[in-house]
Parts: sequence; C-alpha cells; structure tokens
Amino acid sequence: MKRILSGIQPSGALHLGNYLGMMRPAVELQHQGEALYFIADLHALTSLHDADALRRYSRDVALDFLACGLDPAKAFLFRQSDIPKVPLLTWILSTVTPMGLLERCHSYKDKIAHGIAPSHALFSYPVLMAADILIYDSDIVPVGKDQKQHLEVTRDIAVKVNETFGPTFKLPEPSIREDAALVPGTDGAKMSKSYHNTIEIFAEEKTIKKKIMGMVTDSTPVEAPKDPESNAIYQLYKLFASADEAAAMAEKFRAGGTGYGDFKKQLFAAVWEYFAPMRAKRAEIATDPGYVDDVLRRGAAHANALADKVMARVESAVGLRP
Ligand code: ADP
Ligand code: TRP
Repeated sequence: MKRILSGIQPSGALHLGNYLGMMRPAVELQHQGEALYFIADLHALTSLHDADALRRYSRDVALDFLACGLDPAKAFLFRQSDIPKVPLLTWILSTVTPMGLLERCHSYKDKIAHGIAPSHALFSYPVLMAADILIYDSDIVPVGKDQKQHLEVTRDIAVKVNETFGPTFKLPEPSIREDAALVPGTDGAKMSKSYHNTIEIFAEEKTIKKKIMGMVTDSTPVEAPKDPESNAIYQLYKLFASADEAAAMAEKFRAGGTGYGDFKKQLFAAVWEYFAPMRAKRAEIATDPGYVDDVLRRGAAHANALADKVMARVESAVGLRP
C-alpha cells in the first residue's frame, strides 16, 4: 500500500488555493493508501512570531481540514512538532545538503521579496521539508505546483544520503493536479497568504462576497467578447462548478454582453454553495474541543511509530547508533 503524505503551514487562514491545490487532492487520496497529513507548525515559525496566533491557526487548520473531508478513520492528522525525531533528521540531512541546492530555491527569494525576514531557518526550510517526507518512507506527496521544487530538493537530498551512507531512503513522487496547480487570487496572481489576495474558505459570507466582488478585472467593455481562460473569475468558477455550468459561463464570456460583476456574482454563489456542507461540519466539530485533540493525539502516535522505525535505520546508517 502506498504511503501518502502532505503538510500545510498554520501561518494564516486557509484559502481556496490551499483547498484546490492541496486539501481536495489530499482528501481524495486518503482512499487510495495510507494517508498522513500534518500541520507544519515548525515551518510556520519561519514567518510567524506570535505565539497566540500560531496556536490559533494550528487549531484552525485541524478544524478546516477535518471539515473539508479529512476522515480520521482513513487518514492520520498530526502536528509536526509532535514528532521529535523530525528536527534530528533535519540536522542529519543538512550535513549532506550542498549550499548550492538551497541557493537555487525560488521560495526563499520570493519570501524575502515579500518582506519575510531572511533567517537561517527560512533558508534551510527545504531541508526540514525533506525530513518531513523522508522520515515516513513516503511514496506520494500531494502539493500545489509552487512546492514542486521542494520535492526535487527532497529527492536530491535522499540520493545524496544513499550515495554517502548506502541505501537508506526511497524516493518520493510529487502528485500535482494540473487543473488546480496555480489557483489565481483576487489580483490574478497566485493566491497566497503572503500576497494579500486570498479568499478564505471559512470567512463570513459578507467577507467572501466582498473579496470576490473586488477581484481585479480589465476594462474590456460589457458588450465586448472576452477570453474566459485568461480570466481569474472563470478560472476559479471552473474549479467549483459542474462541467455544464463552466461551459455556460465560458460561452457567455465569448459572446460578450455580460459584465464582470455578473460573473463575480455567479462565482460567489458557486463558492458559497460548494462549502455549505463543510461549514456545517466545521460548526459541529468546533463544539467539541476534545475531538480535535483526540484526532491529533492518535495521528501523532501513529506517525511517531513510523518515524522511530525509519530513524533507527538512519541513525545506524550514519553511525550515531550501533
Ligand atoms: P500560501 O502560499 O498561502 O502560504 P502554503 O505555502 O501554506 O500557502 O501552501 C499550502 C499548500 O497549498 C501547498 O501544497 C501549496 O502548494 C498549496 N497552494 C497554496 N496556494 C496555492 C495556489 N494558489 N494554487 C494551488 N495550490 C496552492
Ligand atoms: N512547504 C509546504 C508549504 O509551504 C508545507 C510543507 C512542509 C509540506 N512540509 C511538507 C508539504 C512536506 C508536503 C510535504 O506549503
């Protein structure tokens, strides 16, 4: 059976890009193997230094993921910081990671360009991510396209360990859904917590409506035909509507005569309706704080058992243990 693993940072409220790029594929994959999903709180510390916010976001990620279909009877959900061997493996991997490999990573450069302080942890972030993946002998890693390079780094590091210490790690494969590889935000650029262009999954109705109605559009006149494929409203709509509904909107774009405001209203209605069952589920589980704690405790126990086994192999391979 394949082992599926992915993580998500609790660095802010989860948005439609997270849902379509990572959570929806992860929920679908939970039926196809042994799924392990974690809240990457150690990663979040690279950009968030507010203890109350980190605690709140970590809990919200757990609630959001469970509400969006993660089934604790099928998949394990846990906190990264509950797996104490992860930072140990990060250190071991760091000793074989060439500086040049990290210097080539786009995400570090993007993040400092967006004002995140350039710390050592931010720079070495891909090594921690490699440890997250390799410590469970993961086979498949569902992520959005922006994480593709980190998966390549993970594989390079695993190869380096295998060359240096003998066969130790299997090489994981990314699973990237091309239809939702780069979900656009309200400004048309990649939707991201760091770009202030997100539409949150579980925000209030009026907040979501305001964000969608405020999406940036060009000044093409109402009557003029428009290209649906290059428009963020249509790109988002297509990911939530049925194939027939999407085709109907595409047709209206091409025909002209419909303003962006009307398309935005349709998008809002589709998004609001799509998440209705998830909102109900979230409200239900939020009333029982013990439920989330219990899910996370069981997830961590399982993940630690797997990690301890792999680490016995690694510690022996590098010479830290007999
Ligand atoms: P953010 O960029 O908002 O900080 P994260 O880096 O925490 O998001 O991403 C968590 C997961 O969601 C990753 O697998 C990432 O690839 C995916 N993801 C984030 N934004 C998008 C997007 N706009 N389109 C597709 N996937 C995305
Ligand atoms: N770096 C990922 C992100 O920002 C989160 C993450 C951390 C992750 N460790 C991981 C994703 C391991 C997949 C596998 O989205």
